[in-house]
Amino acid sequence: MTIPNVTLNNGIEMPLLGLGVYAPTQHNEVQQAVEYALEAGCRLIDTASSYGNEREIAAALQSAGLPRQEVFITTKVWNDDQGYERTLHAFDRSLDRLQLDVVDLYLIHWPVQERRRETWRALEKIYADGRARAIGVSNYYSPHLDELFQQASITPAVNQFEFSPYCYLPDVLTYCRQKNIQPEGYAPLVRGEKQNDPRLVTLAEKYGKSTYQLLVRWSLQHNVVTIPKSVKRDRIQENFDVFDFVITDDDMALLNTFYDNTRVAPDPREIL
Ligand SMILES: NC(=O)c1ccc[n+]([C@@H]2O[C@H](COP(=O)([O-])OP(=O)(O)OC[C@H]3O[C@@H](n4cnc5c(N)ncnc54)[C@H](OP(=O)(O)O)[C@@H]3O)[C@@H](O)[C@H]2O)c1
Repeated sequence: MTIPNVTLNNGIEMPLLGLGVYAPTQHNEVQQAVEYALEAGCRLIDTASSYGNEREIAAALQSAGLPRQEVFITTKVWNDDQGYERTLHAFDRSLDRLQLDVVDLYLIHWPVQERRRETWRALEKIYADGRARAIGVSNYYSPHLDELFQQASITPAVNQFEFSPYCYLPDVLTYCRQKNIQPEGYAPLVRGEKQNDPRLVTLAEKYGKSTYQLLVRWSLQHNVVTIPKSVKRDRIQENFDVFDFVITDDDMALLNTFYDNTRVAPDPREIL
């Protein structure tokens, strides 16, 4: 299986589909999940210092033995570590745990009001030093991005935010496209909350796919990088088996109307 790439605003390539690794609890579950995903052809892994599993990612990368340039690793600076100096230190610790010299994408996890400007300055320094191939933000909506642009020397390459038909905000996508920021969606499966939505079930049956596959495909057809999480081999394979069907324009438009503001994480509109 070949997963298409998108080209970020600094010319680097990022896979359109990857694996999320938030919150598994069992020992070694993440290491094993990453190994399954790499076997299935996945080349993008989305972690964060707050997930507490960067060492497990390192172990999986080591056991897979793929050339470093074939895998795209994202990690993020957590809220408590924000600020200029603190972010630089947090980044060093992430690199150490990941056993990497360079991360592919480093993100500000959340726009912490008092600290986010200084944090962005630290990310620009990390990028200038060549220790992150790209830098970006997460959970930034237009007010946060407007503020960032008042000080930024570098445009974020990526903005990662919650993205499923149930929290689809076209304005956020339009803003990112206008500024040449690649949108990346998290919780594309709404953590399974909508698997029995009859409208979703009917559409999935029409394509002979699961509701999970339909949700992944919907994100891809918006050209939004997406990172469904599973620790189970068969589910990882299922979530990546989405390149043999195309959702029609009419059905994409229908899915776009499913918005009911269902979210697994806080709404960035409530963060000033
Ligand atoms: N930037 C941020 O603030 C932020 C916030 C949240 C998430 N994220 C990132 O986005 C990733 C994805 O989001 P998420 O993990 O919150 O939610 P998600 O990907 O929407 O859903 C994951 C859940 O769905 C289950 N699942 C996955 N595939 C399935 C399938 N084919 N059939 C049945 N159940 C399935 C998983 O269980 P099993 O593992 O047991 O299969 C897990 O409970 C995270 O892992 C993380 O990397 C970022």
